[in-house]
Amino acid sequence: MSDTTPNNSVTLTDNRTGKSFDMPILDGTSGPSVIDIRKLYSESGCFTYDPGFTSTGSCDSSITYIDGDKGILRHRGYSIEDLATKSDYMDTCYLLLNGELPNKDQSKEFKQTITYHTMLHEQMMNFYRGFRRDSHPMAIMVGVVGALSAFYHDSTDIRDPNQRLIASHRLIAKMPTIAAYAYKYAIGQPFVYPKNDLSFAENFLHMTFSVPCEDYKASPALVRAMDRIFILHADHEQNASTSTVRLAGSSGANPFACIAAGIASLWGPAHGGANEAVLSMLQQIGHKDNIPKYIERAKDKNDPFRLMGFGHRVYKNYDPRAAVMRESCHEVLEELGINDPLLELAMELERVALSDPYFAEKKLFPNVDFYSGIILRAMNFPTSMFTVLFALARTVGWVAQWKEMIEDPHHKIGRPRQLFLGHEEREFIPVEKR
Ligand code: SDX
Repeated sequence: MSDTTPNNSVTLTDNRTGKSFDMPILDGTSGPSVIDIRKLYSESGCFTYDPGFTSTGSCDSSITYIDGDKGILRHRGYSIEDLATKSDYMDTCYLLLNGELPNKDQSKEFKQTITYHTMLHEQMMNFYRGFRRDSHPMAIMVGVVGALSAFYHDSTDIRDPNQRLIASHRLIAKMPTIAAYAYKYAIGQPFVYPKNDLSFAENFLHMTFSVPCEDYKASPALVRAMDRIFILHADHEQNASTSTVRLAGSSGANPFACIAAGIASLWGPAHGGANEAVLSMLQQIGHKDNIPKYIERAKDKNDPFRLMGFGHRVYKNYDPRAAVMRESCHEVLEELGINDPLLELAMELERVALSDPYFAEKKLFPNVDFYSGIILRAMNFPTSMFTVLFALARTVGWVAQWKEMIEDPHHKIGRPRQLFLGHEEREFIPVEKR
């Protein structure tokens, strides 16, 4: 909880009563200050009103900072550009969880710890067999992650720091295995166990694309691209799924259940489901000659069509992750010798949209989801797996934010109020008189 000693305040005056209320202003280390309204209801009898939380800070945090106007994203003070090009996903996970980049020994120990948690309880395989083969892998992931608490109940006591740590490591380590198994189940191939001599990203590619009769050896360039995609999706302040995890965790629910709630929220096409929707949109547009028609549809208030992968609640500039992703796109397609017409189409769509006054006025730029699908498609992931990979990578962010909340001695259960517009009290009418 912020211990900023407020020396500034705003004064609200209720012109119905003439009463005034002073609300302290709290300053962070970066970014907008906040108006502390915790006493507003008790002093004024009014709630604030902010559907969608466009102007609301739900917590204080030291993990991730975004400046939407400048297109800045930092994790514990390190820019996403530096982390994506100079670090790796495991060290980024350590940074998000512990607040500092690891030294060589800490990095080695953390990687070993995560590696030794990658296997799933053998009985969890039965869960997969309960799903139809054509189940969406996100449905499987929500179900299997929620079930983890049934298998790892020795790390569900959130008051025990050691159990919190083990649960955090288990979640980060097992998500690649759960994701790969969801893919294998969908295509009718046997599950491939993790191998302890592979790096995190390499192990995931191995479990996804190896078969018992032949190992899959990913090229270093592909492994680096996979690891970079994980870094770019690791955490992103108080987005919808992270806020879902925090709200679920505020009731004391176990971490596995909280992460399952986050996965469910991420699945929506307005959030993590957008990467899958971008590919479908590009395939629907089909050819650059059709771009103007779809740009007009995106601008038409009466048309529900939106340019998927464009726009962001916070970024009113280019999403820094999209810029890194676009670079990786070119590298991966070159490495694989693929000339994907969808990449050309995406780049032309971006060019046309960014030159259109509608998108400029509303400050709509490509976000993290705009290019990610093209890389994943080039790496032979089916579109249905795109959001699964987003959830895999974001687990560390959810866990770090959940841990930060649980370790805050002042944290309370989240319980928003409302503006009630329904009926006032009315007399009950017996059914024979209705
Ligand atoms: C992620 O929050 C995070 O940090 C999320 C994320 C993360 O890492 O966790 O960054 C990941 O979810 C990225 C966003 C992926 N979603 C999409 O790409 C779906 C397409 N984008 C939109 O649906 C939209 O931009 C949102 C949902 C991302 C943001 O919506 P907001 O902030 O609620 O903004 P809005 O819907 O009020 O839009 C503002 C205006 C509206 O026009 P007006 O009503 O003001 O006239 O911009 C228009 C919208 O119609 N608009 C779009 C548009 N996005 C917004 N018009 C056309 N195409 C779009 N994509």
